[in-house]
Amino acid sequence: MITTLKDISELSQYAARSFIGIANKAIEERGRFLVALSGGSTPMRLYELLGDQFQNDVDWSRAHFFWGDERCVPVDDAGNSYGQTKKILFDKIGATNIHRVNSDLAPDSAAMDYAHTLKVFSEPPLDWPRFDLVLLGMGDDGHTASLFPNSPVDVTSPTLAVTANYQDRPASRVTLTQLVINDAREIWFLVAGKNKAETLLNVLDGAYKPRLYPAQRIKPVDGNLVWMIDEEAASLL
Ligand code: 6PG
Repeated sequence: MITTLKDISELSQYAARSFIGIANKAIEERGRFLVALSGGSTPMRLYELLGDQFQNDVDWSRAHFFWGDERCVPVDDAGNSYGQTKKILFDKIGATNIHRVNSDLAPDSAAMDYAHTLKVFSEPPLDWPRFDLVLLGMGDDGHTASLFPNSPVDVTSPTLAVTANYQDRPASRVTLTQLVINDAREIWFLVAGKNKAETLLNVLDGAYKPRLYPAQRIKPVDGNLVWMIDEEAASLL
């Protein structure tokens, strides 16, 4: 499903209200809400809204926060997704169940350590949890999480250590693979900006080329996929 919003502000408000709905539904049905957050700039306004306008709308003690990927830099580095989110969301809501990638470890060790964390929350026969929600962004090169063009498509592990260069961001990363993401109940892409329009057209309407456009690897096994995009990103659709 594709939902087009006027701009990043409207997109963030829509995403925040939807996030609250999914969180409360998961807590009501299963007693907890497992969410994998995205890094990057697009979801920042969403996180601010959740920490401010919506901070009293969920029993956050039932929410467990993970990441779809993380950059292997210290938490106080501006490139660390956990560190960015702590200030604008976790400190505001008093989050206690935060399961971040241990970015202080070497990438391979961090990937293994994160796989162990996922196993703690796994739902057999899987070795990872069925996330209630996975938030994703999309780079203008078609990557998502830290699954980049020409990275391995046929994966067997839930996490990978990768090195990738994208804009001015840290290159050494840990990522969830599509094995984990596609088992989620809800998967949302938040995509905004004119610079994403051509890639979005190729990802959504072009040939299936998952090595070139890793965002195309995201296909829920038994869940719901929503693209929340703004009018600029949607301009070629
Ligand atoms: C990250 C994200 C990455 C991001 C895209 C889009 O850690 O950088 O997980 O996949 O979502 O690069 O980034 P923007 O939202 O900044 O365009």
